[in-house]
Amino acid sequence: MEKIILPALEVEAFDELSELSVDEQMLLAQATEAMQRAYAPYSGFRVGAAIVLENGVIVQGNNQENMAYPSGLCAERVAFFHAGAMYPGERIHKLAITAGSDQFPSERPIAPCGACRQSMLEYELNQGQPITLLMRGLKGRIYRIKGIQSLLPLYFNEEGLKKGSY
Ligand code: THU
Repeated sequence: MEKIILPALEVEAFDELSELSVDEQMLLAQATEAMQRAYAPYSGFRVGAAIVLENGVIVQGNNQENMAYPSGLCAERVAFFHAGAMYPGERIHKLAITAGSDQFPSERPIAPCGACRQSMLEYELNQGQPITLLMRGLKGRIYRIKGIQSLLPLYFNEEGLKKGSY
């Protein structure tokens, strides 16, 4: 038997927005704007995501729910798939996520779900460059994490499923 220690998750926590760069503050503002347009009539929980690409374009996403509940999609995947559809191959530099509503006045950072981590990781692995992640509730602390992979150390990675041309 061998014990394997996977890398620990390193989180930078900020109490004030002003501790972040202006670009990062703007990305969080874009996520908040997207959050306000979420379609979340069933959960009442709004999530917004904004990603900045290498070409400077900012792509937004928000959660899109459906009366057949599992048919809906999280904000992060809406944003990443939107970027993949519009700007294939363009590197993703940073992602900001904000979440909450009057019903859920979250005052702590909201972390992406497991399925979103796996989906986002594929983009990070393809581009060979870590994506910085910022997350926040409606207010309060902001977490900054470098690399989606650090959020999912033992991710699904089946080499046998070879990539075709795309
Ligand atoms: N949701 C997201 O948009 N992102 C996540 O990472 C977790 C959850 C959405 C899905 C659903 O519309 C609502 O939040 C409640 O789960």
